[in-house]
Amino acid sequence: MLKAYTDINEIVTMKAAYHKDGRRLIPDDLSIIRNGAIVFDETKILWVGDTDRIPAQYRPLAKNLKGHVLTPEIVDSHTHLIFGGDRAQEYADRLNGASYEEIAKRGGGILYTMQMTNEASLEDLFSISCERIERLHSYGVGSIEIKSGYGLNFEREFELSMLIDRLKKKYRTRVRIFNTFLAAHDVPKDFLNSSTYLQEVVLPLLVKLAPLRIIDAVDIFHEKNYFGPDDVHLLFTRSSELGIPCKIHADELNENGGAKLAAEFNALSADHLLKISDEGIEILAKSPTVATLLPGTAFFLGKPLARARAMLDAGVKVALASDFNPGSCHCDNLLLVASMAASQLKLNQAELWAAITLNAAGALGFKGQGALIPGMDARFALFKTQSLSHITYNWGRNFSISLP
Ligand code: NIG
Ligand code: FE
Repeated sequence: MLKAYTDINEIVTMKAAYHKDGRRLIPDDLSIIRNGAIVFDETKILWVGDTDRIPAQYRPLAKNLKGHVLTPEIVDSHTHLIFGGDRAQEYADRLNGASYEEIAKRGGGILYTMQMTNEASLEDLFSISCERIERLHSYGVGSIEIKSGYGLNFEREFELSMLIDRLKKKYRTRVRIFNTFLAAHDVPKDFLNSSTYLQEVVLPLLVKLAPLRIIDAVDIFHEKNYFGPDDVHLLFTRSSELGIPCKIHADELNENGGAKLAAEFNALSADHLLKISDEGIEILAKSPTVATLLPGTAFFLGKPLARARAMLDAGVKVALASDFNPGSCHCDNLLLVASMAASQLKLNQAELWAAITLNAAGALGFKGQGALIPGMDARFALFKTQSLSHITYNWGRNFSISLP
């Protein structure tokens, strides 16, 4: 069925940003059409332009959207939204002086959430995940990456990947869900080291899941005391043999050559990058890999933010995501994160919006998404407000509404 809308205050097409591959953007690359109109069918955009110029055959269908702003759909390309319990106690411990790393060393952190996730029933995990997806969707987020990774044993990790697939099917018509396999998230205490866990659980499980064709990417927490470069090599070699793309938690708490590994394996994205080296930045600038920054996490952990400006100026493709998880960032509101990031990471407005639309879609390998150009996917966010600036200017306030 065709749909047409006219009189939209601003249509943020991102056309120039798209043609620049999301790199080295200037504010004009937003390619905003004021008083714009758009026509699309169930899947694709057919026409975009000035309201005055809408082809006559579409005019009778058109609904008036004066007082609204239309952008490409917001994409949250990094979440850990399936987990049981919470970590409010650890948060309090951190406020009282303990570090994230110290808490993890004494058996808290990811391993604590693993325990809570394993104690929850699959039905409870499913319904709490639905609640979380609905909440993200209410902010205008239409594509969500969900990582497994709080099961950390063969059976539970299998179930979590299947659960993400179930969520994907349930939300198919409303939210595009991307299923990331992160069994290599932490090493449970009953394994001697990361490589034993990888060999005994992660790799065999990936081999079992691959033929089911439900895994969209593999990911690994490449970090001191978690998984090392040899583990990354093994996992990414196996995933590329299986035809599954990769993503990596890289250079977060320590610089560890994560960005380089990401580029070497053509990863869809390298995420976090709080400690990325100058060499890492240069390498990413020459690669198709998206640098996904998660400023909510640095903010929540009280750590210095990533060097976004250095990456952007070098020509790296930068995305922003929420990293919603129970430990290091218990915030699911990507637009709030973006509002804060804009001033703190010093992004111009095109860089900011590309980071949560076009480049975030790129971080999930979604090719036809992230710009409002004929032929591209008909995926939008609609905001009931005067202009694009009003959305992040009113930080923490939600203007997103469904298309009428
Ligand atoms: O992206 N780094 C690994 N994973 C999460 C933290 C998960 C947790 O603390 O539970 C992150 O920050
Ligand atoms: Fe993460």
